[in-house]
Amino acid sequence: MNNRFLNALACKNLDGRPPVWLMRQAGRYMPEYRKLREKYSLHQLFHTPDLAAEVTLQPIKRFGVDAAIVFSDILVIVEMLGLSVQFPEGKSPFVDYDEDDVQSLYLRPAEETLSYVGKTIGLVKPQLTVPLIGFCGGPYTVASYLLGKERIAKWVQQEPAKLHKLLEKITQASIDYLQMQAKAGVDVIQIFDSWAGLLPRDEFFAFSLNYLRQMIASVSLPVILFTRGSSIYPKELAELQPAAISFDGQKEISSLRKEVPSHIAIQGNLDPEVLLGSQASVEEKMKALLISMKNEPGYIVNLGHGVLPKTPIENVQAFVDSVRSVA
Ligand code: CP3
Repeated sequence: MNNRFLNALACKNLDGRPPVWLMRQAGRYMPEYRKLREKYSLHQLFHTPDLAAEVTLQPIKRFGVDAAIVFSDILVIVEMLGLSVQFPEGKSPFVDYDEDDVQSLYLRPAEETLSYVGKTIGLVKPQLTVPLIGFCGGPYTVASYLLGKERIAKWVQQEPAKLHKLLEKITQASIDYLQMQAKAGVDVIQIFDSWAGLLPRDEFFAFSLNYLRQMIASVSLPVILFTRGSSIYPKELAELQPAAISFDGQKEISSLRKEVPSHIAIQGNLDPEVLLGSQASVEEKMKALLISMKNEPGYIVNLGHGVLPKTPIENVQAFVDSVRSVA
């Protein structure tokens, strides 16, 4: 087992180089993924454990990254509330929910509704020599897809009590879901609260941080916390006591390191747009990043957000190789 990633999460990686993986490392920029997508819809890939397991392993086989992430989506959790999500081609995902009555949404156990994710984990785990990351979305981010952008903005301002009720339900569902994934065999959890950090400060605290705190406290595995806008809130995020914070590309990672207590690891933060440029510029930027974080025991190399679909695959290889070639 390659434990570099787990060691870095414990801020105890003394191996000479940091671990590396990429958010959205399985996806459309890979020819082997596109080939599967010609045959199957996204819904089929997510709901068929054999296929989800195959996609999870694609970036592991190709790049030699130090961690795998379960192939699923943050939005399948709405099935625990009796709802369904659609992924229309080329558009934002869409959750069928036009009610206003939060009270009538009742929770089903993750073991029942999301058992296919547990099965995927069971299939992947024995095939891996690197740790497996399970995940869920932050409640605010999930709610923003459930309600849609306009409705959530309205609820934030005009119906905060109702929004809190919804966020409580999503939080409960998320905790059950994360515990199910832990039981099925994942080694680490990452929470993706992609949209919350873009809220105004007070609203971010009220509608996101409190719920993230509950989630982190209720999972016994190391938790990585990702939100866009994280660079603005290093101290506030550190107070939630995650194992690691995943930073966006807005600030230098070495300066963020100084703002986060040394027992909390940090992950990031090459801007995904850099991978759209030349291989030489990827290598140059990576060199600078790696020098600035040299011998740092609590550092994980990643992007500031997910890999973009148009990314040339050679650049992802160059990104990973630049880390693996550190002496
Ligand atoms: O990282 C991985 O390899 C694991 C799989 C993963 C997916 N989605 C698969 C996916 C993860 C971790 C996610 C998280 C996710 N999903 C987030 C949080 C991270 C982020 O990017 O901010 C969010 C906001 C979503 C919601 C979502 N799912 C959107 C907005 C979209 C459509 C736009 C897009 O990025 O394609 C999806 C679809 C989706 N989820 C795809 C993949 C690989 C697209 C695949 C395809 O069209 O074939």
